[in-house]
Amino acid sequence: MKKVSKFLVVLVLFGVGIIVGKFFLIPKPEPNVAPTFFDSSAQEEGAELSAVEGNSIEVKDGQLIQEAVSVAKSGDIILVYPGIYKETVYIDKDNIRLYGVVEEGKRPILDGSKELNDAILYSGNGIAIENFIIKNYKGNGIMGQAGNNFVIKNNWIFDAGVYGIFPQFGKNGLVELNKLSGIEDAAIYIGMCDNIDVRNNEVYESVAGIEIENSRHCLVENNYVHDNAGGLLAFITPGLPIKTCYDIILRENFVINNNHVNFGAEGSVVAGIPSGTGLLIMAADNVTVEDNFFVGNKAFGIGIVNLENGGVSFSTDEGIEQNPDNISILDNYMENNGYDPPAEIKAATTIALMDNIDVAYLADGKNNCILNRGRYLTLNLGDFADCELTTTKEVASYRLNNPVAPRDISKIEMGKLAYYGVCAGCHSYNNIIVGPSVKDIQTIYPDNPEGIVEYITNPYKKRPNLVEMPSQKYLPEDVRKAVAEYMLSLNE
Ligand code: HEC
Repeated sequence: MKKVSKFLVVLVLFGVGIIVGKFFLIPKPEPNVAPTFFDSSAQEEGAELSAVEGNSIEVKDGQLIQEAVSVAKSGDIILVYPGIYKETVYIDKDNIRLYGVVEEGKRPILDGSKELNDAILYSGNGIAIENFIIKNYKGNGIMGQAGNNFVIKNNWIFDAGVYGIFPQFGKNGLVELNKLSGIEDAAIYIGMCDNIDVRNNEVYESVAGIEIENSRHCLVENNYVHDNAGGLLAFITPGLPIKTCYDIILRENFVINNNHVNFGAEGSVVAGIPSGTGLLIMAADNVTVEDNFFVGNKAFGIGIVNLENGGVSFSTDEGIEQNPDNISILDNYMENNGYDPPAEIKAATTIALMDNIDVAYLADGKNNCILNRGRYLTLNLGDFADCELTTTKEVASYRLNNPVAPRDISKIEMGKLAYYGVCAGCHSYNNIIVGPSVKDIQTIYPDNPEGIVEYITNPYKKRPNLVEMPSQKYLPEDVRKAVAEYMLSLNE
């Protein structure tokens, strides 16, 4: 999640075809070499779709993917062959399918050598990104900015920085069959999005596995979430332009042994998540938790908290309602959770003479319920009713049947989005995180957005105690201008 105050199957492929608007002849990918929890071969069978329209552009080892993107037109497919590609790819066009060709088990590798910030950034609509290995980046593996109708599928993302897969402000998307580990914040981070399915992914050894933040209508299903500090998160984070998070289904996930040391950046919200968290619901509403396995998560299986008890300050954000309401805990399998809870919970469990804790509630919400509560070791669920709802199975997907139109974004929104999506990872209003505070920047560039644009286009080292800022040249000119103006307009 963003730092708040500081930084903060066949059918499926058919879906891709609809999104891109055309069908392509796609070489049938080879099966995965590495053992994966989810067998993706069933889906890949469907890859032999026939009809052809749009061009295919080939990229081979030694060439640049970005050059293919620069000549691609809406509806094209870019076939990237196995090889090592050391670059950041920016896709600001619509309906581009970036497709890693898998040959003899080898995939194309995007390698940031721990020098580059991001592997793939897209802002277009109808973008599909498939079959890549992404490693050694510092910022994001795959990040989307306001792109709708996206598909991010079958990528392996290791040690790729702060976020692994991070669609921000997108509507109607699918994140499926990806494998991620070693991510410093959320491996899969759905931020300010609507109508997203996150299914059949494996996320491990990251600070947070899958985070749904300030998003609506999301289905998180059949993911294998293990050995992170925190497995699943459904959060409202204050200070963002979208203030709500609701209508979330977390179903049939395997949430196992999320006891990794929390290596989140100091001051980030995720750094405060207790190691051993199975699922943490913070301030989100209408969250239904059904048929998951919660096993061996030492802090707790499910924690339901408001912002206050989550230790997140929200007093400056008036649009936020901090309590989790309409939470439904349906049937879940829970075993051996909460044997080593954080201090706040431990005190209560000691008084209650409990050795384990499956579900803990530290909030003051409304209309929360649990089915068959006698099956679990619960803390403080006194005002939870018995659920009337027993299943969410009638919801097969939260994606939409038809692609949605691109967002119409005003200049202020554009600046805001770029600020929260890009800059806020390193800049906060009051404090030095990675870069100087916005307050300080405002004193250097009063009424001078052009000065900021110039600096962020070609940054150079100024402060001996800070690292060099990465160039923001990849952002379109109008976005750089908008973000500079937005930065100068901030007052908290
Ligand atoms: C990866 C971290 C990072 C990101 C992302 C980032 N910055 Fe920075 N920024 C820095 C660092 C570090 C410095 C200080 C560099 C120095 O002084 O040598 C800095 C400095 C600045 C400065 C001060 C320039 C000066 O003259 O002192 C401005 C303005 C700025 N950033 C704007 C932005 C904007 C706008 C964005 C988003 C589009 C952004 N930054 C994204 C790290 C970052």
